[in-house]
Amino acid sequence: MSEHIEAVANELRKARSIAVLTGSGVSAESGIPTFRDALTGLWSKFRPEELATVAAFERDPKMVWEWYEWRRDKVRNAQPNPAHHALASLQDRYKQFTLITQNVDGLHQQAGSRDVIELHGNIMRSKCIAENIVRDDFDAAGTPPRCPACGAHMRPDVVWFGESLPEDALRKSTKAAHDCEVFMSIGTSALVYPAAELPYIASAQGRLVIEINLEPTPLSISAHYSLFGKAGEILPQLIRAAFDL
Ligand code: OAD
Repeated sequence: MSEHIEAVANELRKARSIAVLTGSGVSAESGIPTFRDALTGLWSKFRPEELATVAAFERDPKMVWEWYEWRRDKVRNAQPNPAHHALASLQDRYKQFTLITQNVDGLHQQAGSRDVIELHGNIMRSKCIAENIVRDDFDAAGTPPRCPACGAHMRPDVVWFGESLPEDALRKSTKAAHDCEVFMSIGTSALVYPAAELPYIASAQGRLVIEINLEPTPLSISAHYSLFGKAGEILPQLIRAAFDL
């Protein structure tokens, strides 16, 4: 492992342009359950498709809103961990640094990362289901609250199964994966498309692909380096080794 850390640190030192894709594994050490682990305890009898879809919301808006309220509560009580801080500290070391996240918790921004591309939205924002407009002037007491303008339900501003990703975010991410020298995929199961496609876009251009995860994923056979362990431990080690910190 340590010679892999040295080799990856060397690549990070040489590169001028980096794109990073993060998934819920990066927030796990902040106490936010990963997407699949979030369906435990109270919610273990549900499958993601039963909670994170338009059909689910239309069928039972109260239940879906309550599930998001439970997740928002975890986010409100969470702090960025060493993985978020390590990534924030990288941004000024490169000519081009693009941080793309599938996370909806805003912890990268809390750690100081700028211009984060949120592929799946943000759980703390809500939008009107009829007008598709993000608002913060609604009466939060409702379950779910109503849009003050048109009376339709408010819903979390996140991407649900079967919905398209925000066009601009996807276009920028694809370009970053295509143009970078080094692509890092961190704490994601690399299963959910189109985000899971990004490392392959980089690899098809001959870019160096590095993965950090607790365990092997479908990307592991294609990645040049797979570092297995906690993102909150491996990222700070890498940065110390790369930049003599
Ligand atoms: P998953 O829950 O699918 O995967 C989390 C990954 O993080 C797993 O591969 C774990 O092994 C890894 N992991 C857990 N703890 C870790 C740690 N401390 N350090 C490093 N890795 C760790 O979450 P995502 O890949 O983010 O989409 O899921 C992607 C998307 O699937 C989510 O954004 C969500 C879901 O469907 C939407 O809601 C549209």
